[in-house]
Amino acid sequence: MKSKDIRKEFLHFFETKGHLIVDSAPIVLKDDPTLMFNNSGMAQFKEFFLGNGTPKSNRIADTQKCLRVSGKHNDLDDVGKDTYHHTMFEMLGNWSFGDYFKKEAIAWAWELLTEKYGISKDQIYVTVFEGDKGDGTSLDEEALELWKQHIAEDRILYGNKKDNFWEMGDIGPCGPCSEIHVDIRPEADRLAVDGKTLVNMDHPQVIEIWNLVFMQYQRKADGSLESLPARHIDTGMGFERLAMVLQGKSSNYDTDVFQPTIQKLEEISGVKYGAAEKTDIAIRVVVDHLRAVSFAIADGQLPSNTGAGYVIRRILRRAISYGYRFLGLKEPFIYKLYPILKAEMGDFFPELVKQETIVTGVIREEEASFLRTIEQGLNRLNQIIEQLGDSKMVPGDVVFELYDTFGFPADLSRIVAEDHGFTIDEAGFEAEMAKQKERSKKATALVTDDWVILDDKGNETSIAYDHTEAEVNITRYRKVKNKKGEFFQLVFNQTPFYAESGGQIGDTGSISTLNETIEVVDTKKENNLVIHFVETLPENVNAIFNAKVDTEKRNETTKNHSATHLMHEALREVLGPHVEQKGSYVGDDYLRFDFSHFSKMTDEELAIVEQKVNDKIAEALPLIEKRDCEMNEAIAEGAMALFGEKYGDKVRVIRFGSSVELCGGTHVKNTADIRLFRILSESSTAAGIRRIEAITSNKAIEAYKDAEKNYNDVLAALKTKNDAVKAVQHLLDENAELKKQLESFVAQQAAAEKATWKAAIKEVNGINFLAVKTNLDTNAAKQNAIDLTKEIENAFIVVGTNDAVKPSITISIAKNLVDEKGYNAGQIVKEIAKHINGGGGGQPFLATAGGKEVSGLDTALKQAEDFVK
Ligand code: SER
Repeated sequence: MKSKDIRKEFLHFFETKGHLIVDSAPIVLKDDPTLMFNNSGMAQFKEFFLGNGTPKSNRIADTQKCLRVSGKHNDLDDVGKDTYHHTMFEMLGNWSFGDYFKKEAIAWAWELLTEKYGISKDQIYVTVFEGDKGDGTSLDEEALELWKQHIAEDRILYGNKKDNFWEMGDIGPCGPCSEIHVDIRPEADRLAVDGKTLVNMDHPQVIEIWNLVFMQYQRKADGSLESLPARHIDTGMGFERLAMVLQGKSSNYDTDVFQPTIQKLEEISGVKYGAAEKTDIAIRVVVDHLRAVSFAIADGQLPSNTGAGYVIRRILRRAISYGYRFLGLKEPFIYKLYPILKAEMGDFFPELVKQETIVTGVIREEEASFLRTIEQGLNRLNQIIEQLGDSKMVPGDVVFELYDTFGFPADLSRIVAEDHGFTIDEAGFEAEMAKQKERSKKATALVTDDWVILDDKGNETSIAYDHTEAEVNITRYRKVKNKKGEFFQLVFNQTPFYAESGGQIGDTGSISTLNETIEVVDTKKENNLVIHFVETLPENVNAIFNAKVDTEKRNETTKNHSATHLMHEALREVLGPHVEQKGSYVGDDYLRFDFSHFSKMTDEELAIVEQKVNDKIAEALPLIEKRDCEMNEAIAEGAMALFGEKYGDKVRVIRFGSSVELCGGTHVKNTADIRLFRILSESSTAAGIRRIEAITSNKAIEAYKDAEKNYNDVLAALKTKNDAVKAVQHLLDENAELKKQLESFVAQQAAAEKATWKAAIKEVNGINFLAVKTNLDTNAAKQNAIDLTKEIENAFIVVGTNDAVKPSITISIAKNLVDEKGYNAGQIVKEIAKHINGGGGGQPFLATAGGKEVSGLDTALKQAEDFVK
């Protein structure tokens, strides 16, 4: 069965069981501070398990793009070494939100695997949770009894908490699970060694393919378990592993999921897959990482130096470095694999087709720049090794610095070291790595207590679009600790505070009663809850509060958000429809907009965009807002859905004239409210991505006023009334003329001095010697010395410039003297320049030294003469 059909069959099967089929959520998560990337199918449904929202259907199925490269689930370092782990993989999943439970989940999994996919019952093992004393849980008898209805009892194994109890995070919904393992060894092997003994033993052919999680508890901050009011099902099946089983292969990489890109890589590198273990690992690394990086970029996560972007950069660099080391690929090559990936997966994941230009452009640039880093790192390391001499070991902190500051991989350092007969200080390197991990853990560690629920009837609705002030009560709160200290998070029954999202910053403000006022320092969203950050808890948490948003800040932010929409439209008009939003920041201070475009914008283009936005402001276009709009309706109206965004069932459409966008932010009632728009800068953030920073309203007006004041100051300084350019041009011309005059004056003076010097030359030991002090500058003095040496035979000329700040000494010696007597101007000048506290050097016949102490000049010249005598 082709992998495309395997996916289709899964979704179709669950559709026939009453499930709604939904799209994969983006691979990069935006509203979940605990996760950087989507690492399992259930991540996009967390809010439903937590009871913070209601799903469109209580039965859902999908295939989810997952990335396990950071945090609790991190497979990065193993990928490539075995045949069944991946950075990016698809997780096929079915969910019940308070609907069916273990009975159906087990029966359907069995039916799909054995009847639809035709996996032999003799090759399947299942596990059930054996219970855990510490948690006070016991054997999952319910699951055991249900499995017995389908599978022979001796194929049911018991598993401990580590393998058979699934938790979403340190706190939150969790429950026992049943894993389904398949034994794909050849029959003879299966008869020889009982597969049962190989389950969960990291055997590449006795592998887990599906995990059925029975969510029935809530893990609390104190570690205890509480039963959930509603029970849920969360299952996840590894798509690539399933393909391996159904295609009769013994490695995920032998399936049609990976074979096409492997074949292309063989063609590019000339290395055959299967030729050697080392090159096989490299090939697996490259084709695996290609997927992770491509999907992430297509979803809008560009490689960068921080956060999720840094993780993506590291994955790509790992692939480049494996290609460089083992496949001999010293030129960008990964981007050339992309068209194959797109051809294979673009049907199901249209973002791969739509974003092709960006993805390939960014990968190619990253490759080129990292290959340069590798070359530079090699040079640096070679130098270091030369200096190390006999020690035969590269210190750990050197390897770490190369890795951390320059991105030069440690395994490359190891190889280069070995080539020189060196080793690297592995323990020292590991210690540095551990220190760094500790630092970043400390920087991000966030410990949250359980929510204290005050009011569970509260609807926790946002009224931020319509109000900036409201009476609220606290429905829940919790204490949170991070490296900055302790603070609290509050949730209200309703809130006028806008929570940071879609690039727009969260509101600040206050909540108050007659007795106290508490400042709200930030507002964020977490799993669909609006969370208000405060430094202290109100004395009476049960009071009714007057919640007030800082409206000045909000208004300025709102203007910047609406201006962003107008600018987006103007950019598409001026540059073309390839312009697509790639990131944004909308604050009260300014707006920043990243978008796809391949060349630097000209000043003229920027001026037109700015003008177009100001025209829309002048047109005073009213806001036409549609909330709760169906997605297809919004698209029909001309709104553009962005890949990498997770849209709810209903979307909000914001229209100003012809600008139509899907947006959850706050907006002005009329574009005239923006008053004025001004672009501050245009730059590049990555290959094919441009960034514009701009300001509006008072800030823009202030900026024009500042510019005008500057101009007036310039006019005043130029002592002119109106035409600064003319006045500056006049100054420049005058300056050029003066420079010319000065040069000719200096030349005349130098010539005059040269004549005097010539007359002062005296014979010492058959040498025409001169030691002289001058007020000429160093260059003129040096030129005079050179000229005199040419004009006079056997010349030995020493000139000291009498400059109080930067005295200098030049020595010029006739070539024949250098040859015959072995004089060396470089060495002599070094020696005598000590008197002027200076240093320098040059060639045997000509050398110059600069100094700091003019008072020593006479002594220096005297020493030169003694030298000749
Ligand atoms: N959440 C479970 C897992 O990730 C099942 O989907 O394995």
